[in-house]
Amino acid sequence: MNPVDPPDLPGRRLGDAGPRVSALGLGCLGLSGGYGPVSEADAVDVVRHAIDLGVTLVDTADFYGDGRNEELVGRAVAGRRDEVVIATRGGVRTARPGGPPSVVDGRPVSLRDACHASLRRLGVDHIDLYYLGRVDPAVPVADSVGALAELVQAGKVGHIGLSEATPDQVRAAHSVHPVSALETEYSLWERHAEAAILPTVRELGIGFVAHTPLGKGMLTGVLRYPGELGERDMRRNHPRFQGTNFARNRELVDELELMALARGLTPAQLALAWLLARGDDVVPIPGTRSRDRLAENLAALRVRLPADESRRLTELFTADRVAGPRLPVRR
Ligand SMILES: NC(=O)c1ccc[n+]([C@@H]2O[C@H](COP(=O)([O-])OP(=O)(O)OC[C@H]3O[C@@H](n4cnc5c(N)ncnc54)[C@H](OP(=O)(O)O)[C@@H]3O)[C@@H](O)[C@H]2O)c1
Repeated sequence: MNPVDPPDLPGRRLGDAGPRVSALGLGCLGLSGGYGPVSEADAVDVVRHAIDLGVTLVDTADFYGDGRNEELVGRAVAGRRDEVVIATRGGVRTARPGGPPSVVDGRPVSLRDACHASLRRLGVDHIDLYYLGRVDPAVPVADSVGALAELVQAGKVGHIGLSEATPDQVRAAHSVHPVSALETEYSLWERHAEAAILPTVRELGIGFVAHTPLGKGMLTGVLRYPGELGERDMRRNHPRFQGTNFARNRELVDELELMALARGLTPAQLALAWLLARGDDVVPIPGTRSRDRLAENLAALRVRLPADESRRLTELFTADRVAGPRLPVRR
């Protein structure tokens, strides 16, 4: 179930027993809206182009675009199935079509159904890495992971992952079935994983997939004012993109931009290089709808960050300097 090593890109293994993947994956959330419009043809093209460039980890979820995201990933990988590790997740739903992922359902029966539906939409006979999208507080994690373990035994899933789980949940899950990867937000401006989550996965030999590595685009420097965000842009609901928070965060990005400029890099490249330097077990999955930005992001793999520069970046985006919580407040 492992693809061959990517032709050009350095690889990283997800955990002691997980699949080997390109050191940067492709996050597909933005390919069905969320950050603005994109045609299905362009979305499929970006995924195919990523595979051409040696990306072997493609990350989607069953609720993205109400299932359309998995369908387009399926179209993109058709005929090239062996070249990619497909990662998707179940256990989280939207309460209404197009709504935010607000319903967590980790019951074994729901996870089995969700996995089968993902297999159908992706048009594949197995999913390489299947994440429990969120741990359901109403269901023992052992029961949810037990259902995923059965899917592994049935050959429908290659490896099990967790998403945004706590250290205790990771331990409990890993004692039921080996967990190959934990996917959690991690970037210059979101470092909550460093305190206890990263040490836990390192101790257990679990890989770490860093989602939202570009801070939903903020760390790329392209956003200057909150007013630039379109009507349907999901960042409008995120506190860090609002009002004075935006302005304060933008000041940090200004400094990131200057540091990048001095090195002949883009802010996105510097932000990704910093993340890649956190450890060989960290695999960031930046998302983009653009071929050019994809190539730009992949070039971060060639950047070697001197220790003093890395430290400056670490100190620039400390939690007390970043304005606003990372998630919208749910009412
Ligand atoms: N497990 C979870 O709970 C969870 C949660 C969130 C996300 N994820 C996964 O993580 C992936 C990455 O997160 P994300 O896509 O939300 O955020 P991200 O990777 O931090 O940022 C994506 C944003 O950055 C822009 N961008 C990318 N490269 C750029 C560049 N070089 N220059 C300028 N702008 C650039 C994109 O715009 P364009 O498209 O216009 O280039 C998009 O608006 C998702 O796709 C998804 O697969 C998982």
